[in-house]
Amino acid sequence: MNEHVSLSLPAEEPVQRTNSRKVFIKTYGCQMNVYDSTRMGDALASEGYVTTEEMGEADLILLNTCHIREKAADKVYSALGRLRDMKKARAAEGRELMIGVAGCVAQAEGEEIIRRAPAVDVVIGPQTYHRLPEALRQARNGKPVVDTEYALEDKFEHLPATDRSKIRARGVTAFLTVQEGCDKFCTFCVVPYTRGSEVSRPVGQIVDEAQRLVDGGVREITLLGQNVNAWRAKGPLGGEWSLGDLLYRLAEIPGLARLRYTTSHPRDMDDRLIEAHRDLRNLMPYLHLPVQAGSDRILKAMNRRHTGAEYLRLIERIRTARPDIAMSGDFIVGFPGETDEDFEDTLRIVEEVNYAQAYSFKYSTRPGTPGADLADQVPEEVKAERLERLQGLLLKQQGEFAKSCVGKVIDLLLEKPGRMPGQVIGRSPWLQSVNVDAKTSQIGDIIQVRIIGTGPNSLFAEPAESLIGA
Ligand code: SAH
Ligand code: SF4
Ligand code: F3S
Repeated sequence: MNEHVSLSLPAEEPVQRTNSRKVFIKTYGCQMNVYDSTRMGDALASEGYVTTEEMGEADLILLNTCHIREKAADKVYSALGRLRDMKKARAAEGRELMIGVAGCVAQAEGEEIIRRAPAVDVVIGPQTYHRLPEALRQARNGKPVVDTEYALEDKFEHLPATDRSKIRARGVTAFLTVQEGCDKFCTFCVVPYTRGSEVSRPVGQIVDEAQRLVDGGVREITLLGQNVNAWRAKGPLGGEWSLGDLLYRLAEIPGLARLRYTTSHPRDMDDRLIEAHRDLRNLMPYLHLPVQAGSDRILKAMNRRHTGAEYLRLIERIRTARPDIAMSGDFIVGFPGETDEDFEDTLRIVEEVNYAQAYSFKYSTRPGTPGADLADQVPEEVKAERLERLQGLLLKQQGEFAKSCVGKVIDLLLEKPGRMPGQVIGRSPWLQSVNVDAKTSQIGDIIQVRIIGTGPNSLFAEPAESLIGA
């Protein structure tokens, strides 16, 4: 999942209540945090809070945090320093400002956050945020509240369903968490500690939520999980369903034009899921399948539990099932003990796969993970040099992929107004942003366009019908 995903919630539709409180939610980290922020918004709405995009007008500022790399966690403490000053200034004016910390830093650090940042009123974990309204009420009575116990109840059962008007305001693409937590324990990773062990949501709950989203105008749903393809649940006829089965079921929802899922682990790509890629036209031909490293020795030390060759064979099978699939991945350079030769193996695997999209990171030591205690930590400058080489290669591949799209006629899901009047930004099947001349009233439609050019982060297209007779 991508560190650079960082959205705040879109403003609500106009609300008549004048005495309602306002919450500003700042989201760090992966798509699952983006989803959680929307659901925290739902929980708070039942308490009369409306979300705002203006931090200055908020009565409650909630940071939904990420702990994946050291820098991600550091950002939270520097943001909290600024919020402390803001709270002081507010107090001088006699106005309340409450501060909440949610997400993975909240889970990992708990009480420590209050010690380091006493201005914080509420610390709430990713499994307990349905109890946010109660925590705020308690905190208002004086003492800061820390609620990071893994709740016994299922938070999804306790969250109010998202309001239809809110779904509409959030747009035509949506996330839907189907699985949470991780039992894989890769030796570099904090997720098993911050998100707990693997839990899958039941089929009925997922289908209901998907249907609600579609009723609210959503055309594309991305199923989310830290290991989304480890999702398993009881099927309607009693047998066990895997993610592939769930996708076949969701593909039947009328009006749901597109499905995606992320993030998957290579070990959990089973036959049923590969068949789904072969059979389901509304399952988009894009797969984020991180490998992290190319050297078998490093893969083993990372506890990824597969070899480089196994990963390549898997991709071959996926490409046989769905030849136009675009591959995306995550990479870590400078895991402890990584030699120049090991790193060359990573470059080789990248050459073999040819990625359409990728995220790469310098290994960041995370206290409490097995990797932190390994000898042979790689010097920062070596990591930086490797990252530069790797990113050079990945960017070249991404550029080539974008160029290979020029001239193609593709289906484009029109998503939001473009920067220029008369332009709309759409999403290609391969998750690219595409600019095209269209009316904003067409948002939500899927139209055929011809790709005519590439920009740094997006493509340019013209409506395919304008080509008729040309
Ligand atoms: N479940 C997913 C990954 C979730 S974390 C998977 O197994 O692939 C998202 C990405 O952050 C990882 O794929 C990895 O590339 C990166 N990452 C995780 N821990 C890291 C660390 N300690 N240092 C640097 N990058 C890390
Ligand atoms: Fe982290 Fe590994 Fe689990 Fe992914 S599979 S979340 S990298 S421990
Ligand atoms: Fe970060 Fe937690 Fe996601 S650590 S990447 S926000 S699961």
